[in-house]
Amino acid sequence: MLTVYCGLPGSGKTTWRRAHAGGATVVCLDDIRQELTGDAACQDENYRVVVTASSRVRDALARGEDVLVDATNLTRDYRARWVAIANELGVPARSVYFACSVEDALAHNALRERRVPDDAILRMARRVQVPSATEGFAEQVVVSPDEVTALVERMRAGEPAP
Ligand SMILES: Nc1ncnc2c1ncn2[C@@H]1O[C@H](COP(=O)(O)OP(=O)(O)OP(=O)(O)O)[C@@H](O)[C@H]1O
Ligand SMILES: [Mg+2]
Repeated sequence: MLTVYCGLPGSGKTTWRRAHAGGATVVCLDDIRQELTGDAACQDENYRVVVTASSRVRDALARGEDVLVDATNLTRDYRARWVAIANELGVPARSVYFACSVEDALAHNALRERRVPDDAILRMARRVQVPSATEGFAEQVVVSPDEVTALVERMRAGEPAP
């Protein structure tokens, strides 16, 4: 199974992943930015980043692993790359959309160490295309802001993840 996370910066993707990745191989585009440029927020090498991510996704799926792509993946065109790789290998894909308002995304972003510029979040928010059944995902999951809040509170209280 290929799991494709989709959501604004600050919507809680990486937070959610820590509790829900299971045994999946995680391909996180910010981690690849860090590896290639030394800066997880650097947007100068996006082509190399996505090419590297694609080959990691393909290789891991070909080895029979479950794979999780942690990136914003906000447009249909962007997600099509992951669906195509899954189709190529005959593996089902599912989307997980983090339905966070732009106001909440800005608020979460303001509180974290690694911040994305607010205008970048506002620009991305205008381009969001919610994953749709016509994109080829076998399953579409929506994670509500309340579910992320509940997880964040459990983690803060030191309780085990579900
Ligand atoms: N209800 C909530 N939903 C999401 N994040 C929350 C919530 N409440 C608090 N937070 C905090 O907001 C931050 C969300 O950041 P996180 O790194 O998970 O976002 P992200 O979607 O991975 O962003 P990016 O695309 O920039 O990697 C975390 O520090 C998290 O603890
Ligand atoms: Mg993240």
